[in-house]
Amino acid sequence: MSEIFDYDVLIIGSGAAGLGVALRIADSARVAIVAKTRLQECSTFYAQGGISAVLDAQDSIESHIQDTLKAGAGLCDPQIVRLVVAQGKECIGWLLDQGTTFTEVESEDGERHLHLTREGGHSHRRIVHAADATGKEVETSLLNHARTHPNIDLYEYHNAIDLITASKLKMTPQRVMGAYVLDRKAQRVKTFRAKSVVLATGGAAKVYLYTSNPDTATGDGIAMAWRAGCRIANMEFMQFHPTCLYHPQARSFLISEALRGEGARLLLPDGTPFMQRFDPRGELAPRDIVARAIDHEIKRLGVDCVYLDISHKSPDFIRAHFPTIHARCLDFGIDMTREPIPVVPAAHYTCGGVLTDAWGRTDIPGLYAVGETACTGLHGANRMASNSLLECLVFARQAAMDLKRRLHEFPPPVPLPRWDESQVTDSDEEVVVSHNWDEIRRFMWDYVGIVRTDKRLQRALRRVEMLKQEIAEYYGHFRVTSDLLELRNLIIVAELIVQCAMRRKESRGLHYTLDYPSRNDSEPAQNTVLMNPSPAGGERP
Ligand code: FAD
Ligand code: SIN
Repeated sequence: MSEIFDYDVLIIGSGAAGLGVALRIADSARVAIVAKTRLQECSTFYAQGGISAVLDAQDSIESHIQDTLKAGAGLCDPQIVRLVVAQGKECIGWLLDQGTTFTEVESEDGERHLHLTREGGHSHRRIVHAADATGKEVETSLLNHARTHPNIDLYEYHNAIDLITASKLKMTPQRVMGAYVLDRKAQRVKTFRAKSVVLATGGAAKVYLYTSNPDTATGDGIAMAWRAGCRIANMEFMQFHPTCLYHPQARSFLISEALRGEGARLLLPDGTPFMQRFDPRGELAPRDIVARAIDHEIKRLGVDCVYLDISHKSPDFIRAHFPTIHARCLDFGIDMTREPIPVVPAAHYTCGGVLTDAWGRTDIPGLYAVGETACTGLHGANRMASNSLLECLVFARQAAMDLKRRLHEFPPPVPLPRWDESQVTDSDEEVVVSHNWDEIRRFMWDYVGIVRTDKRLQRALRRVEMLKQEIAEYYGHFRVTSDLLELRNLIIVAELIVQCAMRRKESRGLHYTLDYPSRNDSEPAQNTVLMNPSPAGGERP
C-alpha cells in the first residue's frame, strides 16, 4: 500500500534551483525535497566556471544584458533578461550569506575583492567563481543549510514518477496536487501530497551519447510536465560544450570555458590555431560557434579530437586557477602545465524546457519550474556561459516570492488515489531497457547533434515512434524501476527535441541545419512551443 506524505511545497530536485527555492520559502512553509540519487549528485555540483554577475565598476547591467541578448540570437525575452541580470548582485550576496566562499584577489590598496574571470560571449570580466569548482562550493553550502532547517525534509534516492493533477483525477479546476515518487531503496511508490510542486529537475543532456552532465540529467521534469499538459518550448536549442576531455576513461569531464577566458588556445593536432578562421572573437566566441568550428575541423581532418593549450601560462597560475582540472588531467597522464589537453564537444545544457512566466509559474496552477528544466526566455537560442546558475538563483527567488504570496490561497488537500501495482509484474527482460537507453542516445548523437538535416531528423523521428510504443508497452506491464522511469522520460525528451528541430526552418543559435543554413531575419523570431494533444500521467495505467 502506498504511503502518503503531506507538505505545503514539494520540490523535485536538490540542485541550485531546488535548494534555492527551499531555503527562501522554508520559513513560511513545510517543504519536502526529493532527489533521485544522492542529494549532491546534480549538474550544480559539477559546475566549474562560475556565476555571472555585474560587480565590477567598469562593467554595467546594460552590457551584461546586451551580451546575453547577442548570444541568444534574437530569441531572448528582453524583459526576462533584464530581470535576471539586475538580480545578479543580490544573488551573489545571498550566496555569501549562506556561507558560500568564492575566489578572492587582493587589490593594490590591500583590499580583498571577489576575483572575476571571463568566459565566451561576455565583454567584461564578470564571472564569480570558487577556483574551478564553483558548483561544489555552492551546492555544499546550500545543502548544509537545508539539512539543518527544521521545515525542510530531504529525501534522497527518491525518484519522482509523475505529477498528480486535478484534471487527471477528473476534478476541476485544474491544479497540481502532488506526485508519485519511487523510494529506490525501499522499492515502493510513495504519494507526496502538496499544495504546490516545484520542478527543479535539471536538464536533459543524457539523451545524447556524449555529455558533460551527470546521470541525473534525463529531462524528467520536462517529461512529467509534458505528460501533465504543460507547454514545452525551444527544445531544439541543446547546447554542446566545446571542450570536454577526450580520453577513453574520462567519462563526462568538462574542461571549463574559463581556460579560454584566461587565454587558452584551441589547436589542431599539428599545433595550428584555427578559431580566428571562424570568428573574430576567436576562442571567446559564443559556444555554438566554437562547438561547430571544432566539429567541422574534426570531420574535415578525420581526427578524434582537437587540443586546448594553456601551457604558456605559469604552472603556478594554472594550478591556482584550475586545481580540479589540473588534478583530473594528471589522473589521465596529461600535464596541462606542459602540454595541450585533448578535447571534443559534448551535450551540455538544455536551453528549452517547461514554459514559465517571470515567477516560474507553468501552465498548471500551483506547479512551478525553476532552473535548467524551465524555459524562462533568458537564454533564447543559446545560453551564455555562467548565466545558468544565475538563472537558477534568480528564479528560485522569484518562485519563492510568488509562493509566499499564494500558498494561503491554495485549496486544502483532498484524498488522492494510491499508486496501483495490481496489474503489473517484475520485469523479465531488463535488456529491453538497457538496449533502448543506448539506442536513443546513439541516434540522438548521430542524427540530432551539432549539425542537423531534414533527413537525419526524419530518421530520428521514425526511431522515436517505434521506441515510444515499445517503452509504453513495457511500462504498462512491469513494475517501475529507476532505469525504466528515466527511459520513459528520455524518449519523450528525444521526441520533443526532434519535433522542435523539425519545425525550425532556419539555422539560429544552437540549432544548425544544412538544409536551412542561414538565419531567417525576414520575419520576427519565434519560439518553438509544443502542446501535448492528449495529456495523461498520474496513475499507473
Ligand atoms: P541540477 O543541479 O542538475 O539538479 C537536478 C536535481 O533534480 C538533482 O537533485 C536530481 O537528482 C533531481 N532530479 C531529476 N529528476 C528527478 C526525479 N525524477 N525525481 C527526483 N529528483 C530528480 N552553469 C553555470 O552557470 N556556470 C558554470 O560554471 C557551469 N558549469 C557547468 C559544468 C558542468 C560539468 C555542467 C554539467 C553544467 C554546468 N553549468 C554551469 C550548468 C549548470 O550547472 C546547470 O544548468 C545548473 O546547475 C542546473 O541546476 P538545477 O538546479 O536546475 O539542476
Ligand atoms: C564552464 O565552466 O565552461 C561551464 C560554464 C557554463 O556552462 O556556464
